[in-house]
Amino acid sequence: MLREPRRVGFVPTMGALHDGHLSLVRAAKAQSDSVVVSIFVNPMQFGPTEDFSKYPRSFERDRDLLETEEVDLLFAPSVEEIYPGGARTFVTVDGLSERLCGGSRPGHFRGVTTVVAKLFNIVGPDLAFFGQKDAAQVAIIKRMVTDLNLPVQIVVCPIVREPDGLAMSSRNAYLNREERRRALVLSRALRKVEHSFSQGERNTPALISAGNDVFAEEPLVRLDHFEIVNPDTLESVHEVEAPSLAAVAAYVGTTRLIDNIVLR
Ligand code: PAJ
Repeated sequence: MLREPRRVGFVPTMGALHDGHLSLVRAAKAQSDSVVVSIFVNPMQFGPTEDFSKYPRSFERDRDLLETEEVDLLFAPSVEEIYPGGARTFVTVDGLSERLCGGSRPGHFRGVTTVVAKLFNIVGPDLAFFGQKDAAQVAIIKRMVTDLNLPVQIVVCPIVREPDGLAMSSRNAYLNREERRRALVLSRALRKVEHSFSQGERNTPALISAGNDVFAEEPLVRLDHFEIVNPDTLESVHEVEAPSLAAVAAYVGTTRLIDNIVLR
């Protein structure tokens, strides 16, 4: 008797798991027959002055959480296993990798696409689950999958937020009480943009200016970028005529946070 093919769902992560990650795991459980989660803090996607060495690591807690979610396989390779030395091959999505976070984090997306391509080759998933939280990452990975004919379907899951609106992130652990309060400016500014859009504003500079007004109330938060772009090409749009991505990145103290909404 022929068996039904089993669909493997894959959730790549860097650990320090929170409900945002777990929402991907649950989506993978619902849509696949077996679920693989990876935990790998990928040195290639961190710049030389970034937080690779202090990135939060909580392996035992993560493993327990994944066990509770009844994940079938946890893949947690070492850096040496993934990058044994001598590697000369990188995956770069030209044109997209320099946009949004790629503008202020040179080499970041090359690190992401290289490791995700490697993880796809190792795990061989039918479906792979990514969060809308990292909207540029989603666009770049989708482009990579199309351009390289990778046999995997990308599933995008909505942003999971704290009750007060802050997008969940492993980096929120860096924030002290005061910074945690200030960090709300990202979601507040995006909500203001959304409100202005819902009132009929379609002009991008006007929408961004509405968001910037909110940032002006929080002078200790340093804006990195606030852009409205095409969600697939990540190119700026002047008028919002089709669904567009409003994406923001800002430093709260030394912690870089990102958030976004889709205007549709
Ligand atoms: P990491 O930041 O650990 O995120 C793993 C996945 O969880 C990503 O797809 C991310 O978008 C998703 N995620 C994070 N916070 C979320 C939230 N609040 N709501 C919904 N989804 C959320 O992204 C990476 O790791 C790495 O770049 C990786 C893809 C693993 C490659 O190293």
